[in-house]
Amino acid sequence: MSKTEKQVPESKKEAREFNFTPHDFARVRKLIYQRAGISLSEAKTDMVYSRIGRRLRIVGIDSFKEYLDYLEQDNNPEEWEAFTNSLTTNLTSFFREEHHFPILAEHILQLKKPIRIWCSAASTGEEPYTLAMTACEAFNTLKPPVEIIATDIDTSVLATAARGVYPMDRISKLSLERKKLFLQKGTGASEGTVRVRNELRQLITFQQLNLLDDEYALKDTFDVIFCRNVMIYFDKPTQSKILEKFVPLMKPHALLFAGHSENFMYVSDALKLRGKTVYELNQTHIKNHAIHSKGARHD
Ligand SMILES: C[S@@+](CC[C@H](N)C(=O)[O-])C[C@H]1O[C@@H](n2cnc3c(N)ncnc32)[C@H](O)[C@@H]1O
Repeated sequence: MSKTEKQVPESKKEAREFNFTPHDFARVRKLIYQRAGISLSEAKTDMVYSRIGRRLRIVGIDSFKEYLDYLEQDNNPEEWEAFTNSLTTNLTSFFREEHHFPILAEHILQLKKPIRIWCSAASTGEEPYTLAMTACEAFNTLKPPVEIIATDIDTSVLATAARGVYPMDRISKLSLERKKLFLQKGTGASEGTVRVRNELRQLITFQQLNLLDDEYALKDTFDVIFCRNVMIYFDKPTQSKILEKFVPLMKPHALLFAGHSENFMYVSDALKLRGKTVYELNQTHIKNHAIHSKGARHD
């Protein structure tokens, strides 16, 4: 099943092929929370049934209980990956929440090169490619001085992202100028698709990363972090832990971009709102924190 299909709302009328009890749902909920930080409400019962039901069919198991036992008992990294991939929501688009990109362009033009950007919930790639397009437009070249690290927990969307091939309907909102500059039309067997130009793909490194991990396998600090429309799946303590890990990865002038319904002000004192869901480091908090941690070391 493709990720695009997964964005279609699951049918509530699906006949129950497998036995699925409230206890099974509670187990799925606990496992995905522990593994990915994703908090599933009761309203997601049908979604869980439909998505994990597909795994049962693929694995050839005919009850949720048996599947969850198999997942938990066996050392089975591949099934854990498939389980996690099944429960993520990957909705995204090119130039989503458009107002962010002029702010990004203005910011990166002022910085020392190379400019490092982390796209921390990259999904199928539209967001990191939008960052690359914005950088190309800002510097007026297909080789802007930027390095983009695009990460996601979901290995299947990352594979789509790295391929950079999209059906036409995914690019319908892009201007003709952007289509001409950044995309190539597929021919023959690839008719009806477009491919992101190699120059753009070369600006991006794709890498799996779970925002819940204790340590992020990332080198060096960033001028910009995009963390949009993923924190909404996490509870406040999880959001707070993640933001604490972002702070040391941000250069003093770095900007953090959040999704339209995400508010980081109440989860971290280390950040202050610059406007339009864009955050910067709260320098007072950072200084106080440095003084306190120095004090603690001297004790
Ligand atoms: C709704 S998409 C948002 C995509 C993009 N940032 C945007 O705003 O268009 C959320 C993404 O977060 C990813 N995600 C969920 N939990 C995650 C975690 N614990 N670590 C990293 N990525 C995660 C999902 O796999 C999904 O691709």
